[in-house]
Amino acid sequence: MLGRSLKRAVMAIGVMVVLPSASAGPPVGDGFCTWEATGFAIEQPLCGLQGDPERGRALAADQNGGNCLACHRLPIPEESFHGTVGPPLDGVGARYTAGQIRLRIVDEQQVNPFSIMPGFYRDPMLGNRVADDYWGKTMLDAQQVEDLVAYLVNLK
Ligand code: HEC
Repeated sequence: MLGRSLKRAVMAIGVMVVLPSASAGPPVGDGFCTWEATGFAIEQPLCGLQGDPERGRALAADQNGGNCLACHRLPIPEESFHGTVGPPLDGVGARYTAGQIRLRIVDEQQVNPFSIMPGFYRDPMLGNRVADDYWGKTMLDAQQVEDLVAYLVNLK
């Protein structure tokens, strides 16, 4: 049995190469809402939805959800493994607006084309660089992205 932290570390490497479907939950495809990035931000909430910070926090730590901890440090002390592949997200709400955070979760490659961070709500018609299971689908649904934005924007 792999320890929890080791499992997460292995998973972090896994997502860089090809995201195993097990690490991001079931692919979601229905009801994609188009979005528009202006000035490296997506100002409008996806599908006009309102996010819930509590759900966002849980999702960030969930290996079957966002699995953000695989690559980022977050103020979630009850989880032992925090990745260092990406920048720590403590204080991200002081550095970025909600719109800027939204674009980074939706499609970080619009900010940095070489980023290894998966585009969690990339236009499915453009495909993504992750497992074939996700072809034509987004990795997270619009509500999940909004929950994450609501959580992160409060990390001042
Ligand atoms: C495979 C590793 C990986 C995963 C998984 C990942 N990220 Fe990232 N993320 C990165 C990297 C690397 C960067 C640095 C920016 C770049 O690459 O251009 C980044 C940047 C960011 C930024 C901008 C931070 C800054 O200070 O510039 C935010 C916000 C962010 N990620 C949120 C998330 C959230 C929320 C999740 C989970 C849904 C997540 N990331 C999952 C690798 C990852």
